[in-house]
Amino acid sequence: MQKISSIDEIRSIRKSLPEPVGFVPTMGYLHAGHLMLVKKARQECASVFTSIFVNPTQFGPQEDLAKYPRDLERDFAALEHKGVDVVWTPDNAMMYPEGYDTWVNVESISRSLEGEIRPGHFRGVATVVTKLFHVVQPDKAYFGQKDAQQAWIIKKMVKDLNFNIEIHIEPTVREADGLAMSSRNVYLNSEERSVAPRIYEGMQRALRSFNHDEVNADRLIQIVANHLGETPFFTVQYIRIVHPESFEPVSTAFDGCLLLVAAKLGDTRLIDNIILTKK
Ligand code: PAJ
Repeated sequence: MQKISSIDEIRSIRKSLPEPVGFVPTMGYLHAGHLMLVKKARQECASVFTSIFVNPTQFGPQEDLAKYPRDLERDFAALEHKGVDVVWTPDNAMMYPEGYDTWVNVESISRSLEGEIRPGHFRGVATVVTKLFHVVQPDKAYFGQKDAQQAWIIKKMVKDLNFNIEIHIEPTVREADGLAMSSRNVYLNSEERSVAPRIYEGMQRALRSFNHDEVNADRLIQIVANHLGETPFFTVQYIRIVHPESFEPVSTAFDGCLLLVAAKLGDTRLIDNIILTKK
């Protein structure tokens, strides 16, 4: 596995690698969710690129950029083990040199949900992913359903801006108790960790109710709220049922719509979602 920082070197290696090239962009501190994306890319592509870059422009001023967990050596070992060909570790100075002034904004779907709570977040994501795509020039890129809104924004951006890249969205990888894997789970203390699976449990309860013909979005949302509200630990930021492409709220749930939750446990912000599918 080649570990490379320089943009020029990435460009020249790219030319020599067999196609199709699969790409998994990450912010590091890798867990089984990231590694599932890498595994998919390995299965479906002749070459696999990953990037590790904690992108400052997608963090708000009050957010956890400085303390975002990092462990590059462990990440390298995990990627090597998964058979990655190249890992790119750009730095801030090369991604955002002095005077950097160009931004990518996917307008409508960036406004709601995460966009409402984290203003500017998706502008940072869309911009950095554009830059990563331009350098790596992958044939396929892999994203997690865990960050559903992000994945859809990237899909939309790729379509609108005519990137010649197939976007693959892969299911959320969970801990045995249902908690969605996230680099931020390490922030949870033991009490918070023990109640964290309630997010998934609450969504599963709503799904069961949906499968018993409850389609009223407010009532389904209330099921999740009640389950989280049974402990004093959660501060709910949103529980919403949306159309899977526009991310606009719907009042009547339908097969394939999305149920999304964002809640804080202490200082740690967790997000999760499921697709409401009819059994
Ligand atoms: P990061 O949070 O490191 O996630 C990298 C990729 O892993 C994203 O596509 C994310 O959706 C996916 N992922 C995270 N947890 C997952 C889980 N439990 N199951 C499945 N996939 C999971 O998302 C980012 O980084 C950044 O915003 C990035 C796209 C790299 C741009 O900076």
